[in-house]
Amino acid sequence: MAPDAPNATPALTWDGRRLRLLDQTLLPGEEAWIALEGAADTAAAIARLAVRGAPNIGIAAAYGLTMAIERAPGDEDVRAAARVLRDARPTAVNLAWAVDRVQAAALAVAPEQRAAAARAEAEAIHAGEDAASLAIALAGADLLSGSRRILTHCNTGALACGGTGSALAVALELAGRDDGVTVLACETRPLLQGARLTIWELRRAGVPHELLVDGAAAGLMRRGEVDAVIVGCDRVAANGDTANKVGTYAHALAARAARIPFIVAGPTSTIDASIASGDEIVIEERAADEVRHAGGALLTGADTPCRNPAFDVTPAELVTALVTERGIASPPTTQSVMALLQRAGADDG
Ligand code: MRU
Repeated sequence: MAPDAPNATPALTWDGRRLRLLDQTLLPGEEAWIALEGAADTAAAIARLAVRGAPNIGIAAAYGLTMAIERAPGDEDVRAAARVLRDARPTAVNLAWAVDRVQAAALAVAPEQRAAAARAEAEAIHAGEDAASLAIALAGADLLSGSRRILTHCNTGALACGGTGSALAVALELAGRDDGVTVLACETRPLLQGARLTIWELRRAGVPHELLVDGAAAGLMRRGEVDAVIVGCDRVAANGDTANKVGTYAHALAARAARIPFIVAGPTSTIDASIASGDEIVIEERAADEVRHAGGALLTGADTPCRNPAFDVTPAELVTALVTERGIASPPTTQSVMALLQRAGADDG
């Protein structure tokens, strides 16, 4: 069932038993909802980007594992379902983080209690990400107060995260405070999450916006036509190095050259304290056909050799501030990022 409120754009709904996803591969042309049943179909939906964005693939996987545990609560069943979900995509740490939380909650109790324990944990993860989005929106908008031309990349709104998003939630909050705000959305080749999804969300929210080809961003920054860049994140290393959608690193370099703030926004579920730096982040390589095509049309030779890294790593020294629901690391360093993680979170009870 689709949401009623015109400005609500949740990527998924959970009725206590079943997960439904708005199939993001079909947006903006078609708003089709798909019903899921367990680990394998949820993992497949994550892999083909029917649901996407670091926090939302964690939430979807948490519900996928819950549905699998309802059917098969044995130790090995739980571990096997968790493996299938964890392996769906490699870069966003939220996926493994959410799956591990639900698996641990389930395995901590007897088999007959596992479905309820998993459901409670998945719902807590979802509620925590919703709360994080609101806190990020407020903190980020305070930080960027006065900035009016906000450039962003990929999609970091309600389609990607709990609540109204991470980086896009900040831009929406800024636009709510100041009607002079315009969001400059980069189209985000090859799968065009900016052109297809961010613009869809901005139109529904009634926020002024312009769409850019990715290659236009650096020149506009140099000409003084951008006040700040704000992006999301898929995995933040302990030292603040940040993996995000491919093309983010180029925006960070351009922002530094233009002397404008480059802000990363995301929940602390995206911080991977187990890795010292971004060199340890596994970058997902996706199919060559994503590069060969745009909007379903073949652009080049059908067998043109391609590289298709889906993410890149921006070194922490290019990041002005990391905005999370637990506060802001400005600049992000091992010390400031670890200090954030030590602060109590909204879902810590
Ligand atoms: O491949 P995608 O569409 O899942 O990539 C999404 C991004 O890179 C987002 O910027 C990131 O997940 C942050 S969303 C808060």
